[in-house]
Amino acid sequence: MSRFLVPMQLISSRLKAVPGTRSVSSLLRSSHHSRCSYRAYSSDVDLNKTSTLPNSTSEKEPQYVIPKTMRAIQIKGDKGPASAMYIGTADMPEIKLDHVLVKIKAIGVNRMDTLQRTGNYPVPPDASPIMGVEFSGEIVSSRSSSWKPGQQVFGLAYGGAYAEYIAVSGGTLIEKPDYMSHVKAAGVMETYLTAYDALKKTGKFERGQSVLIHTGAGAVGIAANQLAKSLGAHEVFTTAGSEEKLQALSEMKSAPDHRINYRTEQFDEIILRQTKNTGVNLVIDFVGKDFFEKNINSLAKEGRMICLGFLSGSKATLSLAKLLFKKLSIHGTTLRSRPKDYMNALVASFKDTCLDKFATGDLDVVVHKELDWNKVQEAHEILENNQNIGKVVLTIPESTEEAVKTPAE
Ligand SMILES: NC(=O)c1ccc[n+]([C@@H]2O[C@H](COP(=O)([O-])OP(=O)(O)OC[C@H]3O[C@@H](n4cnc5c(N)ncnc54)[C@H](OP(=O)(O)O)[C@@H]3O)[C@@H](O)[C@H]2O)c1
Repeated sequence: MSRFLVPMQLISSRLKAVPGTRSVSSLLRSSHHSRCSYRAYSSDVDLNKTSTLPNSTSEKEPQYVIPKTMRAIQIKGDKGPASAMYIGTADMPEIKLDHVLVKIKAIGVNRMDTLQRTGNYPVPPDASPIMGVEFSGEIVSSRSSSWKPGQQVFGLAYGGAYAEYIAVSGGTLIEKPDYMSHVKAAGVMETYLTAYDALKKTGKFERGQSVLIHTGAGAVGIAANQLAKSLGAHEVFTTAGSEEKLQALSEMKSAPDHRINYRTEQFDEIILRQTKNTGVNLVIDFVGKDFFEKNINSLAKEGRMICLGFLSGSKATLSLAKLLFKKLSIHGTTLRSRPKDYMNALVASFKDTCLDKFATGDLDVVVHKELDWNKVQEAHEILENNQNIGKVVLTIPESTEEAVKTPAE
C-alpha cells in the first residue's frame, strides 16, 4: 500500500476542508472488525520532517461527535527502528458491549512497545496492531453500565493506545482522581499493575517480608519499589546502573532501604551480609541471564523469584542443588497475555488496595519526560538507551481539524 508523507502545515489545511465526522450511533452500528484495522492516508505525518501539531479549539459541553477516522502512530513496513514511526490515519475502533470509547490525552510509553515496534514481542492474537497498552483520557461514548461520557479515566488495554481514540473494556479503567494529572495517570496501569501482580498475586508477598527489585529506576522497578515499601516490606533492596539513578530512588517518599549499583557492587554479597545470611523472600527480576545465579544466592529458604523480563538474555544456568535445598520457586509471568477476567479482577484489587496511596504520595508516578506524541521516536530512543528514570509519557494535543465536541442543546 502506498504512503504519501506530507508536512504537517499542509495536512491541517486539507483536513479542515473535510469534516469527516459521524455520530456515536453510526459508530455503534459499524461493521468494523473488532481489531482496529489501519491504513496509510495522504494525511500521514512523517515524524522525521515535522515537529509541530495544530493547537487546541475546545468546545463546551460533552455532546460528542466521533470522527470517521483517527490519527494513530504507525510503523513504516509494520516493523522497524524508531525512525520508522509516523502519525498516520486509522479507522475508529468498534465499541463492543461493556466497552467504552476514550479520547486519549496521554499515553504511557513502555519498553514492550519498543520490542513490538521491532517485531520482537508476541502481541496477543485479538489485540489491536497499533502499539500502546496504557493511557489516560476522557470517555466520549459508552456501552458499559458502569461508565458514562465525560468521565476522566486511565486504563489498560491489550493494544491500541498510540492513537487519538481507544475502545476498551470498562473493567480495565479507573476513574482519574482530580489530584492526578493525565500525564501521571497515563503511567499508572502497565507499570503498577505489573509490579502489583508480580508482588502480590504471583509473588505472594506479605507484610514484613524482604524483597529484591532489579532495574530499580525503570518504570516498573520504581512502581515495585514504591509498592513493596507501602505494602509493608521489612526491607527492600534494589539495583540500578548509575549513581544518578540510585540518588533519584533515595528521594522518593517510598524509597527502597538499600540501593545497590550493580555495575560496581555484588548485590548478592550485600544482601547476604545485610540479612545475616538469611536472604530475601522475594526477587522481582527483569534482567535474566546476568543476574540469575546471584538472584538464587540472594533468596532465603522457600524464597520466590518472579521473572518479568530478560534484558541481558533469556538463557541461564541453574544449580538444581540450590533450588532443592533452599526449596525455591521460580515463576515467569506476562501481564499482557492475561485473560480479560484476570485483568478485571487485578484492576479492581489494585484500585481497592492501592489507589489511595497516590493521594498520600506513597505511590507517585515518576515522570522522566513528557513529550508531544509527534516526538514518539525520541521517546522510544530514551528507553532503548536506558536513559529514563521512571516513565516517558506522550501527550496528544487537541487538533483543530476534528469536530470532537459540539455544544449541548
Ligand atoms: N512480564 C511483564 O508482564 C512485563 C510488564 C512490563 C514490563 N516488562 C519488562 O520489564 C522490563 C522493564 O520494563 P520497564 O518498563 O521498567 O523498562 P524501563 O523503564 O525501560 O527500564 C529498564 C531499565 O533496565 C535496565 N537495564 C537494561 N538492560 C539491562 C541489563 N542488561 N542489565 C541490567 N539492567 C538493565 C536499565 O537501567 P540501568 O541503567 O539501571 O541499567 C533500563 O533503564 C522490560 O524488559 C519489560 O519488557 C515485563
